[in-house]
Amino acid sequence: AAPLRLGIAGLGTVGAGVVRIVRTHAAMLSARTGREITITAVSARNRDKDRGVSLTGYEWEDDPVALARRDDIDVFVELMGGSDGPALAATRAALDTGKDVVTANKAMLAIHGQTLAEEAEAKGRAIRFEAAVAGGIPVIKALTEGLAGNQVTRVMGVMNGTCNYILTRMESAGLGYDTVFQEASDLGYLEADPTLDVGGIDAGHKLALLSSIAFGTQPDFAGIDIEGIERIKIDDIRQAADMGYRIKLLGVARRTGRGLEQRMQPCLVPADSPLGQLEGGTNMVVIEGDAVEQIVLRGPGAGQGPTASAVMGDVCDLARGFRLPTFGQPATTLEQVPPATSGLP
Ligand code: NDP
Ligand code: HSE
Repeated sequence: AAPLRLGIAGLGTVGAGVVRIVRTHAAMLSARTGREITITAVSARNRDKDRGVSLTGYEWEDDPVALARRDDIDVFVELMGGSDGPALAATRAALDTGKDVVTANKAMLAIHGQTLAEEAEAKGRAIRFEAAVAGGIPVIKALTEGLAGNQVTRVMGVMNGTCNYILTRMESAGLGYDTVFQEASDLGYLEADPTLDVGGIDAGHKLALLSSIAFGTQPDFAGIDIEGIERIKIDDIRQAADMGYRIKLLGVARRTGRGLEQRMQPCLVPADSPLGQLEGGTNMVVIEGDAVEQIVLRGPGAGQGPTASAVMGDVCDLARGFRLPTFGQPATTLEQVPPATSGLP
């Protein structure tokens, strides 16, 4: 088969990780997918920056839209970030010119995912985004493939590692929110705009995508009740611990008699439950379905290797010709999601 040719826009933490995997594991990827996976061209803002990986052999494009439009790439890999601007323009250009897209950009998809999915479907292309939800955990794949025989009743989880780090560090070190927030900032954990993390917005973006896949809805970020962790005090954490609970920024999407309910807020969870035992920057997603009952997925929600791992899972699927519909078919609104049906033992 002909090689699968990638154009990668964004060579930061995740983009450099993707380049590293393609270079390191070329033979393994080819054996697994039956095709060579190559990089044709790359784009970032600063051409001279040392990114810790070799870019030898790749053409350079200053403009990510020009990269997306090239006729010598098959897949446009968007790893720049930002809900609008160049990421959205380049993604649209790629779909418009008949490319498949792989992205880790939860902010863009939570807002524009439905229209981008429609643009992709109109062109017979795919937009894949495993890395956008819970980093290295292959949760989209679990829902669309392994759990396809289930009516999902509830998905929930801890999907922002920074908030979980702050909450667990406050508890273990007995430190106040402001001190630990500063620590997280010094360690480079926070997004450039920290309110995305501590305000629950980043986790809300992920929940919107997760529930759209689980329940066949259009992603509805605006429909999520969001509360962040900024007002959690060390006394709240101590009181919860005294009662056998821990506080987690928990996202929950579940069927009700009035459609789908989505919430992202600090919750008390039993300290001895899987969610209660989650430490540091780790993510956890719990999926409940009528046949499988409950499964728990746990792993790194961020970082170069884990996020690039998820991006490459999507790239390999495209190399194999897998193009699942992105969101529900047909996409419904949250109100149209029916209550759980009974019938299984
Ligand atoms: P970085 O900030 O490390 O990298 C962003 C890259 O995009 C940089 O290489 C930057 O160029 C490039 N870039 C930005 N604007 C432009 C532009 N206008 N034209 C061309 N290139 C541009 O981000 P991350 O790698 O951390 O994140 C990438 C995406 O992955 C985001 O959507 C993020 O939300 C998502 N993600 C990240 C995770 C993580 O752990 N980091 C986890 C899950 C998802 P330059 O280097 O020259 O400045
Ligand atoms: N800021 C995010 C987090 C990065 O802390 O989980 C991964 O999406």
